[in-house]
Amino acid sequence: MKGIILAGGAGTRLAPATLAVSKQLLPIGDKPMIYYSLSVLMLAGIQDILIISTPAHLPQFRQLLGDGAQLGLRIDYAPQAEPNGLAEAFVIGAEHIGDDQVTLVLGDNVFHGPAFSELLTNSTRNVRGCVLFGYPVTDPERYGVGETDETGRLVTIEEKPVRPRSNLAITGLYCYDNDVVDIAKNLRPSARGELEITDVNRTYLDRGQAELISLGRGFAWLDTGTPESLLQAGQYVQMLEHRQGVRIACVEEVALRMGFIDAKACHELGVRLAKSSYGQYVMAIAEELAGSR
Ligand code: DAU
Repeated sequence: MKGIILAGGAGTRLAPATLAVSKQLLPIGDKPMIYYSLSVLMLAGIQDILIISTPAHLPQFRQLLGDGAQLGLRIDYAPQAEPNGLAEAFVIGAEHIGDDQVTLVLGDNVFHGPAFSELLTNSTRNVRGCVLFGYPVTDPERYGVGETDETGRLVTIEEKPVRPRSNLAITGLYCYDNDVVDIAKNLRPSARGELEITDVNRTYLDRGQAELISLGRGFAWLDTGTPESLLQAGQYVQMLEHRQGVRIACVEEVALRMGFIDAKACHELGVRLAKSSYGQYVMAIAEELAGSR
């Protein structure tokens, strides 16, 4: 299974914060936004990852994450010249995907919930068709919306419907079999001129190969689209970290727990950041887990 993080777009709703910096590099709590989507792929056990962003912002991501080897990953980078739609990720990423399956996560989506790693590894194992993740929201008209029948089977998908048929938003995390490359290559731009991920998902739905996993109440799927929601996401992260003493989306910790790096390597990553409480946490986790491994 390959991974793609789509982290382009202009971030216009967050201007001027995004005039010189990519939206997906703005901090949520104590770390860059992209750490949250990167940790989702890592928790799914994915180590071969392509980051797609604008030509202007790509060097910033490379500076942050390098080739990924420090986290036991392989990270490559590819530009998206214009924001031509989410589904263009599979055209740009065709070579990276090769003949494998692929999980796409949007670089501005934040997920947090119990046993997420198990849920992800189970749902990304041998994907036939596509696996989507639904989340109940009060404003479904802002998202892709999935409607299920009484057995939980997905029956319709609509992009930003004026009259949503359900309150289940389709989140920015998508798992596909290899057909997604051909499906994306054959898409036509929508009325708003984009290659729509919803059209990809509809193709799978028409084939009877689209599964929707509903993330339950215990889950948080946070919005980062406006200054208010960005601040709220930061407060959520900070509250959990302060109360429980655990950090969400600490990629060094995830790499250690997933067995991508050993405790010594993890500790060294913490030492480089030792002046911040984040770095001190990384060192402490490495010391704690060194004994148990
Ligand atoms: O967040 C989940 C939602 O994401 C889904 O429910 C929708 O079905 C899906 O269309 C998408 O809706 P958005 O309105 O959030 O899409 P937006 O155009 O804002 O793009 C989402 C992120 O992807 C954003 O951070 C910018 C980035 N992006 C977007 C486009 C169109 C790219 O990197 N490249 C692009 O071409």
